Amino acid sequence: MRRKVIAGNWKMYKTQAEAQDFLHGFMPHLEKTPEEREVILCVPFTDLSIMSRNLHGSRVRLAAQNVHWATEGAYTGEVSAPMLVEMGVSYVVVGHSERRQYFGETDETVNKRLKAAQAAGVIPILCVGETKGQRDADQTETVILQQLDEGLVGVDLSRLVIAYEPVWAIGTGDTCETLEANRVIGLIRKQLKDGDVPIQYGGSVKPGNVDEIMAQPEIDGALVGGASLEPDSFARIVNYQ
Ligand code: G3P
Repeated sequence: MRRKVIAGNWKMYKTQAEAQDFLHGFMPHLEKTPEEREVILCVPFTDLSIMSRNLHGSRVRLAAQNVHWATEGAYTGEVSAPMLVEMGVSYVVVGHSERRQYFGETDETVNKRLKAAQAAGVIPILCVGETKGQRDADQTETVILQQLDEGLVGVDLSRLVIAYEPVWAIGTGDTCETLEANRVIGLIRKQLKDGDVPIQYGGSVKPGNVDEIMAQPEIDGALVGGASLEPDSFARIVNYQ
């Protein structure tokens, strides 16, 4: 049985005070969460310190939303994997479509970030997915297989989570059909030739659709944006049926 991994990606939302408020509302709901289910919060760099203190001793794992590939150096504005480890970070999102789209992230830099995270003992969550244009042009498979081929060179699959996030489904309310998400995730798994890598679905996951998504045999979890910002809504997702 592959492990189930539910992660909330706060993106560029929440001050430290708001992060603490969130935990206040969210943590009590975890009493109902099955033990073996992994729960992760991917927070802005500025929230890492307070979150690390507040989550100490809890079952919630802390994640950053990006990492640089060098351990240190003249890279203004960047944060390295050893620095994340010092903050109590266990996971890091790499190659999110927003980073690919707005910050020039390529499969080559994604690959370097994945390896740097693993070298420091941080588990990367690699995001892959096609745009609307690529899907309409029937390129979904080609695009994703290329992202995997180039992104995963030299990466240890036993310390990795993958998130399939169709770009057109992110923040749009336009969820990918569950059967289609299951099909694409099945393709990803086949390409990896490793049956144990947890593969999440991401893109407009909400309390109202999470049960159906998580009932799919290939889908091992969810990477949740908007619906992870509110404690009750994220708790309902984490406690899917
Ligand atoms: O990383 C999660 C994400 O991109 C999905 O966002 O708001 O569609 O759940 P959202």
